[in-house]
Amino acid sequence: MSNAISLALLGYGKMGKAIAALAPQRGCEVRLVMDIDVNAQGQGITPANFAGVDVCIDFTTPDAAVENIRRVAGLGVNLVVGTTGWHGQLDEVRKIVESAGVGMVHAPNFSIGVNLFYRLTRAAAEIFAPFAMYEPYVVEAHHKFKVDAPSGTALEIKRRIQPAFGNREVPVASVRAGYIPGTHELGFDSEADTIVLRHTARGRQGFAEGALHAACWVIGRKGLFTFAEVLELPR
Ligand SMILES: NC(=O)c1ccc[n+]([C@@H]2O[C@H](COP(=O)([O-])OP(=O)(O)OC[C@H]3O[C@@H](n4cnc5c(N)ncnc54)[C@H](OP(=O)(O)O)[C@@H]3O)[C@@H](O)[C@H]2O)c1
Repeated sequence: MSNAISLALLGYGKMGKAIAALAPQRGCEVRLVMDIDVNAQGQGITPANFAGVDVCIDFTTPDAAVENIRRVAGLGVNLVVGTTGWHGQLDEVRKIVESAGVGMVHAPNFSIGVNLFYRLTRAAAEIFAPFAMYEPYVVEAHHKFKVDAPSGTALEIKRRIQPAFGNREVPVASVRAGYIPGTHELGFDSEADTIVLRHTARGRQGFAEGALHAACWVIGRKGLFTFAEVLELPR
């Protein structure tokens, strides 16, 4: 008998494969993998398929994620959701998670570095905001296959810095080109100079690392959490 955490992976694209590759080194066993061929409209999420699964990790598509969450929560299985582009339905997802009594961690970005970067962006906004000559802006760049724009990460940076600037509109620009794994910049520009804070992902391993960290953390918890909360509430 192994003590490994037993995982179901929904979505076996770039992220699903990166998580499957790293899981054994992090004490996790991938018990079930379902891509769209066996899980269109969530039909593969059944009690039989999920028997013995501790945590389900979803990296699918914006239109698939909420139905997947509904069905997995209905089975009483905790979740880690990295899929982006569904956050307009966050209130609905909160109700699903709370009424099912499961635990779920979600984030537009599971990189530990990005989540520490969020804290820097807020601190920087507080430093610059009293000086009216500086205007904040956000720029993000990703590979041409990414469906949603702006990225959830760029929107999160904007959400975190806006209160310091009296909730004024902060411009966000997106680039979709080539194979860029993910770059986010927060700049403060004045007539005299520009200050830029930048996070550059080197690949997908950082996201996979964070998603597996969240999977271990969410075991035995109930409620909806962001990955930033996971990093602020050590086990
Ligand atoms: N939070 C983070 O840290 C983070 C990091 C990277 C990416 N992401 C997000 O995670 C998602 C996946 O990214 P990716 O780069 O892995 O994309 P990807 O390579 O396109 O993989 C997504 C996979 O999910 C499959 N799929 C679609 N509907 C499904 C369903 N109902 N059940 C099971 N599988 C389904 C897709 O199949 P088909 O291709 O056949 O449709 C595809 O194989 C995107 O929303 C992306 O923005 C988040």
